[in-house]
This record gives sequence, structure tokens and C-alpha cells, in this order.
Amino acid sequence: MMQLPKFVRMVEVGPRDGLQNEKSMVPTAVKVELVNRLSDAGLTVVEAASFVSPKWVPQMGDSAEVLAGIARKPGVRYAALTPNLKGLEGALAAKADEVAVFGAASESFSRKNINCSIAESLDRFAPVMEQAKAAGVPVRGYVSCVLGCPYEGEIAPQAVADVAERLYAMGCYEISLGDTIGTGTPTKAQLMIAAVAERVPVDKIAVHFHDTYGQALANILAALQMGVAVVDSSVAGLGGCPYAKGASGNVASEDVLYMLNGLGIETGVDLDRLVAAGAFISEAIGRPTASKVARARGCA
Ligand code: HMG
Ligand code: MG
Repeated sequence: MMQLPKFVRMVEVGPRDGLQNEKSMVPTAVKVELVNRLSDAGLTVVEAASFVSPKWVPQMGDSAEVLAGIARKPGVRYAALTPNLKGLEGALAAKADEVAVFGAASESFSRKNINCSIAESLDRFAPVMEQAKAAGVPVRGYVSCVLGCPYEGEIAPQAVADVAERLYAMGCYEISLGDTIGTGTPTKAQLMIAAVAERVPVDKIAVHFHDTYGQALANILAALQMGVAVVDSSVAGLGGCPYAKGASGNVASEDVLYMLNGLGIETGVDLDRLVAAGAFISEAIGRPTASKVARARGCA
């Protein structure tokens, strides 16, 4: 078997990618408790906020209050999405430790999600990068629709590599490759990662799988085999994207951790506490967990 990484950094996106997609408004206090429970479980990056237009995603309208309410744990980075300068201003005022710009490998998805073309989005990100740098705040870059688009279907690996390279050249410290609609399969994922790795060092690549077609864990293992050592996931498998109809949640953090533990890969995350965090949010939003590990351990 190919050499797998010894340590994987798990990036928890549930409070953002998960809760942005909830139909009902989740109370701020519940979000705060969720973020605190996730940092207590040992996660070192928690995407807790999104400074996007509240007209587009009202669920994230209380992001400043969430960042003001959490108990900040030393060594943990609390991250926020920032599509433009207005978003960056909000994130800096709320003292986000890092921010993220989000582009797409598909023109149609870019327009639906952020109302501009891919080229326009990169122009818009440039001043965000500059001002974040001036403020000493690291910027992550997302590329969505890396293995398929809800509007365009197949996406060429080179299209992903082009956007990833641009974001990296602009100064993003890490590029997260998002299978937004979860249609990818392992060989496709490896071919796409190989194309990106020709332009972006593999230790700057993260993977972000949604589990719509049940392929996420297989795809993550395939990515680990390529040397990728940063994995995004969402507690209880919360989530989806409001602009990608039918996209189910991200791969559940509990399931990723169980697999990594089984592979002997260090993460610093405690499974019992993570499962408890997932049980907390599932009960709070009144929905069964999407984590198989949590269900196997008796969570409703
Ligand atoms: P727009 O309508 O083109 O923007 O939207 P605009 O600049 O014309 O502004 C329109 C209004 O929004 C104005 O208010 C602005 O002030 C306000 P008005 O004058 O009408 O009262 N506005 C803002 N308010 C708060 N914060 C801001 C902000 N910007 C403008 N930052 C925009 C463009 C990008 C703002 C909009 O399209 C948007 O907010 N999109 C976000 C959509 C989103 O959050 N999608 C989900 C996240 S991406 C994702 O989930 C994928 C990912 O997980 C990876 C994967 O799975 O692949 C990351
Ligand atoms: Mg996502």
C-alpha cells in the first residue's frame, strides 16, 4: 500500500457549510455551543462564520455574534468565509483568525453562487487578499465543483487546476478542492488532484467532499494516497450548499475520524467528544445524524 500521511489536519466546516443550509434559523447560542464543543474535541480549525450577503444566505446573518460568543481556545483557528471586501471587513471586525475566498471551476456555478464569472471573482478576491495580508490574517481558497457541476455536468481537471493555481499565486495558504455535489469517485478524484498538484504543492491542497453519492470516504482515502493531509468535514454530516440543489451534507467528521483512527493516522481529535458534539447539534436541529459512526454508537 502507498505511504499514507502520519498526521491529518481535520478542518471542521459544520458550523458554516452545515448550518448555512438549514431551513430553520439555528439560534446563535446553539451555534456558539456547537463551536465550543468542536474545539473541545480537539479540532484546531473550525469554520464558524460566513460574512456573505444575508439576502443570499440569511442563516449566516449572525456570524459576528457567533464569533463574539465563543470561548476561544488557544491553538484553535476560527475561520470565516469572505466573498468580497465587505465580508472581509466584517470578519476582521469580528476577529476571525483566518478567512476564506471561494471560487469555482464552473462558470455557471460561479454565477449562481457569487453572482459573477470566474475571472470577475478572481479580480474581486485580489483586494481581499491584500487587505487580509495587511491585517496578518491567512486566507484559504476554495474551488467548488471540482468533480462535477449541478449546471454543467463534467468539469475538466485542468479547469480546476487553473483556478487553484490562480488562488495559490494570489497568496492563499491552502487550496480546498470541493466536490460540492458529491458525484466524484476515487479514480476521478486522483486524476483531478494530480492535475492540481502539477501547479500547487500537494502539502497546500485540502479536500472537501460532500457525501451525496456515498463516495466521500473512498475519495478521501484516494486523496490520502496522493499525499493530501488536510481534510474538510462536517460534524453529523450537516450541510450542503444553497446554490447546489440536491447536494447533501459534507462527509461526517465522526466517520472521517473513525477511518483515520483505523488507519493509524494522528489527528489530535477525540472521537467520543466529537460524537457528543454531533449528538448535540442533531438534537438541537431536530434531525437524525448523517454520521454512520454516530448511529452505530447509539445516537439517534
Ligand atoms: P451581489 O448581489 O452581486 O452583491 O452578491 P452586491 O455587491 O451587488 O451587493 C448586493 C447587496 O448585498 C448590497 O446590499 C450589499 O451591501 C450586500 P443592499 O445595498 O442591496 O442593501 N452585500 C453584503 N452584505 C453582507 N456581507 C457581504 C456583502 N456583500 C454584499 N459580504 C455576493 C454577491 C458575493 C455578496 C453574494 O452572491 C453572496 O453573498 N454569495 C454567497 C453565497 C454563499 O454563501 N454560498 C455558500 C457558500 S459556498 C459553498 O458552500 C461551497 C464550499 O463549501 C465549497 C464546496 O462545497 O465546494 C465553500
Ligand atoms: Mg461545501
